[in-house]
Amino acid sequence: MEKLLIKGGKVLKGHISCSGAKNAALPMLAATILNDDEVTFKNLPYLQDITTMFELLGSMGAKITLDESMDFSISSNKLVDLEARYELVKTMRASILVLGPMVAKYGYAKIALPGGCAIGSRPVNFHLDALKQLGASIDLKNGYIEAKADRLKGADIVFDGITVTGTENIMMAACLAKGTTTLRNVAMEPEVSDLADLLNKMGAKIEGAGSDLITINGVESLHSTIYTIPADRIEAGTYLVAAALTGGEIKIDSIQPKRLMNVVDRLKLSGAQIDFDESSVSLKMNKTRPIPVDIFTAPFPGFPTDMQAQFSVLNAMADGTSKVEENVFENRFMHVQELNRMGCNISTNGNTAEIVGVKEISGAQVMATDLRASASLILAGLVASGETVVDRIYHIDRGYERIEEKLSYLGADITRLPS
Ligand code: EPU
Repeated sequence: MEKLLIKGGKVLKGHISCSGAKNAALPMLAATILNDDEVTFKNLPYLQDITTMFELLGSMGAKITLDESMDFSISSNKLVDLEARYELVKTMRASILVLGPMVAKYGYAKIALPGGCAIGSRPVNFHLDALKQLGASIDLKNGYIEAKADRLKGADIVFDGITVTGTENIMMAACLAKGTTTLRNVAMEPEVSDLADLLNKMGAKIEGAGSDLITINGVESLHSTIYTIPADRIEAGTYLVAAALTGGEIKIDSIQPKRLMNVVDRLKLSGAQIDFDESSVSLKMNKTRPIPVDIFTAPFPGFPTDMQAQFSVLNAMADGTSKVEENVFENRFMHVQELNRMGCNISTNGNTAEIVGVKEISGAQVMATDLRASASLILAGLVASGETVVDRIYHIDRGYERIEEKLSYLGADITRLPS
């Protein structure tokens, strides 16, 4: 298994570009199933999760082509096998995103039930309840969801809890339903608005995405379009925290600054100076040690759970004590034990972590457990004395494009060790 070797102590300085957002791209790839034609994507990030979604669509009969400008075109209009098998779903929970589009377009879907994962039990009951309200029949057997429907019918749906992929799944399904669907208590994440934007460019009629009420007027069919995947706000946030940790100074291009406000506000409180222009953000760390900042994760516009592990490392090096509350997933502190092995002082109690900042940590061999936990271990390695070896980095390759290249470019000493 490949590993990352980091020799800590370098100050990050320089200028990098943000890649396309994984969590925007995955539902968009699933949305091609709704289309009668080809959809072309620019700026798709080169990530394992994207490859897995390609494999899934390809296994069902989609045609995927890459042109000389590195744009991908996908035709999912003649799927022959309406099943998402366990072997693929178990490697990527976001496979559930094909459920709504398949039932809406083909009237049938058989999808392996995603199990729990390292960060929590992550059920899909909100997706299934909403799909039933659109008129689908759902059977759960042998570890699979089997959904059937004639044409879906618009409905007034109130989600019992806020779910990002659940909102996306049902918003996609409702695009081809007969009549009007209203979705209440939905996720307001920018990735939901991006998906609505793509669907509208394909001819859907969606209003309100980005607020807690989305209205969709069903249409008969959707047509081809070309779409540029927006920048990954979590990738940008991760590099900002990395720079703040090392006392550095960086600029990140190709971003939409407004989407980062919840993270930027906390970074400012931790002592960073942050400046924006229309499509870039610059950070300069003014403190030798960060100021501790309490964090409470929440659905957008709250502080993103996907930045909790990384920000915890900043707090772990801060001059004082802080509290981190994880309110989205029930088990997202797997990084804490590994960080403590490096010398951090973090104790957890239920969904809360108390972090007593330390001045120094030391490199160690550590193991990644999920995507954002891996990122936090790499960030810790950047400030630890000596060498840190991060194992199981296939997690990082799911969601960060060329992380060692980008960090090296900023001055970090980081190398990928072959398996
Ligand atoms: N939940 C339910 N029932 C459901 C759906 C969700 O109880 O039917 C619960 C979950 O167990 C969780 C909470 O609701 O406690 C929120 O889960 P949500 O459904 O919003 O998460 P998700 O859609 O599965 C997406 C991102 C995650 C990100 C979360 C929260 C994608 C592909 N994944 O997951 O990204 O953490 O929203 O913002 O968009 C990551 O990139 O590292 C990552 C895990």
